[in-house]
Amino acid sequence: MSPKPVEPEITPHATVGLFDSGLGGLSVLRAMQTHLPQAHLLYVADSGFAPYGERDEPFIVDRSLHISQFLLSQGAQALVVACNTATAAAVKELRAAFPQVPIVGVEPGVKPAVAQSRNQRVGVMATPGTLKSEKFRQLVSSHAQGAELVLQACPGLAREIERGELDTPALRALVHEFCEPLRAAQVDTVVLGCTHYPFVRPLIAQALGPDVLILDTADAVARHAASRLARVPRLSSAHQAPPGGLQLWSSGDAAHL
Ligand code: DGL
Repeated sequence: MSPKPVEPEITPHATVGLFDSGLGGLSVLRAMQTHLPQAHLLYVADSGFAPYGERDEPFIVDRSLHISQFLLSQGAQALVVACNTATAAAVKELRAAFPQVPIVGVEPGVKPAVAQSRNQRVGVMATPGTLKSEKFRQLVSSHAQGAELVLQACPGLAREIERGELDTPALRALVHEFCEPLRAAQVDTVVLGCTHYPFVRPLIAQALGPDVLILDTADAVARHAASRLARVPRLSSAHQAPPGGLQLWSSGDAAHL
């Protein structure tokens, strides 16, 4: 009789660390809570150093290594880089620094957007850092498939969202400014390539009009993280964190978080 393949042990109770430059990664955290309700989640908002989108890559790599080290010291068994800008700048360095740890990153959903666009004109809203990264260039060359991509850098938008008020005149003006070129280019699908932007999705939807499909990747990332956790070894019950728990840290104002 041939031996049965060994099924990886599913670890719904794993402790997972997430981080972002600030509040944006909470959009990913929310999806993680849906897909992994039993996991214990640790979240770091690097609000004291936000936004990342207008910083240089070595700075983001340093912050990402430092925060990841902290999350691992708090018991994280897997990491989710809940930030497109940090993923583009630092995920390679994080994987090299922590080769045993499953690390899931976030990147703009160019592939699903191209698949769903009817007129093959797709807008991508993201930070300047994400759009000029080598990782994003590779993403486009693998997945644009001949579609026309209209890249819209949104400097200042994450910073404004970070203030926590989600419908101010300043925010509306910024959203309008960044959506106008996308409307003019007649894109029918827009990718939210920054984890802060889902928090102003209603404003973006209003500025783009009812015929434009808006996509973000929080859900896909959470599902991917759940499947990666299947490979995380189960801890003995003495070391398991309470299921469904959540701990939050901020390098800025913790009360704000
Ligand atoms: N939330 C981050 C992202 O997904 C970046 C925002 C920022 O700090 O500029 O790219």
